[in-house]
Amino acid sequence: MIRVEGLKKSYDGTVVIDGLDLAIGKGEKTAILAPSGCGKTTLLRLLAGFEKPDAGRVTVDGKAAFLFQEVRLFPDFDVLENVAAVLDGKDAKKNAAAWLVRVGLSGAEHKYPDELSGGMAQRAALARALALDRPILYMDEPFKGLDAGSKSALYALVKEVCAEKTLLLVTHDEEEARILCQRILRFGPGMLPSGE
Ligand SMILES: Nc1ncnc2c1ncn2[C@@H]1O[C@H](COP(=O)(O)OP(=O)(O)O)[C@@H](O)[C@H]1O
Ligand SMILES: [Mg+2]
Repeated sequence: MIRVEGLKKSYDGTVVIDGLDLAIGKGEKTAILAPSGCGKTTLLRLLAGFEKPDAGRVTVDGKAAFLFQEVRLFPDFDVLENVAAVLDGKDAKKNAAAWLVRVGLSGAEHKYPDELSGGMAQRAALARALALDRPILYMDEPFKGLDAGSKSALYALVKEVCAEKTLLLVTHDEEEARILCQRILRFGPGMLPSGE
């Protein structure tokens, strides 16, 4: 479903991705573990088509939802409207409200993004990415900074909702990778495979 061949990307002469090959099958849950600054976000941006490779190919078969590392909510929409924006039909707000309950945001429906704590904003962004219901979900360090209890509740939700989806999680949290994914790929600088 996702194929990356000989992918290279540099910024101003600095090589960020130095020849990456990757194949991810339909329904597979894959974690990409790499330290900060190794090019994880750059890889997701290339997969999403936000950036063009310098060399190599990226093939993605299917539509994707994207949970960004920096939470991006529409600032002029309240939380409910942010989620409803990705839903169609007359029940959009009702369905959005149900997603907010699932991520633990009931009662916050009418708050605006600048009134949310970091953790609440992450939950709202997760609700929107899950509500979008695309066959592929990319998540970029989605649970960073959340407490252990919040994380485990959200892991359970993601596992349930993504049972049939192709999931690509980039993280440097080993435990998160193990809980959410069957396959863990480790990379170092240049997004080159790393032994340990
Ligand atoms: N748009 C950009 N312009 C210049 N340098 C960038 C850009 N995006 C990322 N980089 C650089 O590429 C490297 C990898 O960044 P990133 O993909 O965000 O890593 P990670 O997500 O693994 O922390 C970093 O050194 C970063 O400074
Ligand atoms: Mg990143």
